[in-house]
Amino acid sequence: SAADKGGWSSFMAKEVSEGPIAVENTMRGRLTDRGVDLDLGVLDADVLRGIHRIVIVACGTAAYSAMVGKYAIETWARVPVEVDLAHEFRYRDPMLDEHTLVISISQSGETMDTKMAVQHAASRGARTLSICNTQGATIPRESEAVLYTHAGPEVAVASTKAFLAQVIGQLLFGLHLAKLRGTMTDDAIAEVVAEMRELPDELREVLAEQTSVHELAHWMSDTRSVLFLGRHVGYPVALEGALKLKEISYIHAEGFAGGELKHGPIALIEPGQVVFVVVPSPRNEPLLHSKIVSNIQEIRARGARIIAVAEAGDAAVLPYADVVLRVPLTLPMLEPVLQVVPLHIFALELATAKGLDVDQPRNLAKSVTVE
Ligand code: G6P
Repeated sequence: SAADKGGWSSFMAKEVSEGPIAVENTMRGRLTDRGVDLDLGVLDADVLRGIHRIVIVACGTAAYSAMVGKYAIETWARVPVEVDLAHEFRYRDPMLDEHTLVISISQSGETMDTKMAVQHAASRGARTLSICNTQGATIPRESEAVLYTHAGPEVAVASTKAFLAQVIGQLLFGLHLAKLRGTMTDDAIAEVVAEMRELPDELREVLAEQTSVHELAHWMSDTRSVLFLGRHVGYPVALEGALKLKEISYIHAEGFAGGELKHGPIALIEPGQVVFVVVPSPRNEPLLHSKIVSNIQEIRARGARIIAVAEAGDAAVLPYADVVLRVPLTLPMLEPVLQVVPLHIFALELATAKGLDVDQPRNLAKSVTVE
């Protein structure tokens, strides 16, 4: 009912607006002055120091959050991390032992494939950690330890605030592991923690400035295909932007990595093709930034219309973008938390402009508990 939606037109709109609080609640009690404080039960310091490899298993949006987690955990804790779709993992006899940590990410904690992947990992002697948004759900119960995200209940089929909380959960874990393994200085950890504390207010800023997304969605309501491009942690953001559009707007959408452009996707570019480009900060990542600017030039020369999601101070993208959606400056690993929000809102607005039921898209279920 309208009351449950707290005055919002849909659960999805309400849940997007709850992003800042979801992030705040997931960090609450877990950040100290200059570090993180996580209690992972039996996965204590000794066990975690003995981990040689991490595999993150998940489905859908949770799997895209895992791709962000991979970059952060591997960079900070210097442990090889791979991401596997839970259904690919469980059917391919993956190499597992007691030095492998299998982290599952799930909003519901009930996704069948993710649950089976965890059971498979445990049966092979791997250690298991669940990052889950639902207290007492099956997956955390079947895992050795759990790090709950506290995004609050998510009702809309398309996951939004839970994605933000899943990224935060993995960032917290990455810092925890880096501290245990001595791969980051205390100052470096403190810097990330300070930036994480800014995220809720930065998200509020992003949410307050969405007029252009709204206009864009209305202008694009007849569009039949949208591409999303990103690099590094911007790549999973591009994939997530495309997934959301497919899920609730029924528009063909594809996300790809900037470096892959020449290996195929550029053939799709014809005059008028809209491409969202997730642009890394020129201040923090000058090299990646220049690479993405050349990607933009390549597709623009072929007639693409560019919608850039870029840092507030980034003037370099202006000459190349038809529309720029601004996000505040943060550290590279934290960027997805801010950059994904305009893409979530774009999908929401476009589906709304098309008159679709954004909370209950056709053919999809909130939690896939069957195969
Ligand atoms: C379904 C939902 C997605 C979600 C995925 C994984 O496909 O529609 O929004 O990302 O399941 O769900 P989980 O509960 O495991 O995060």
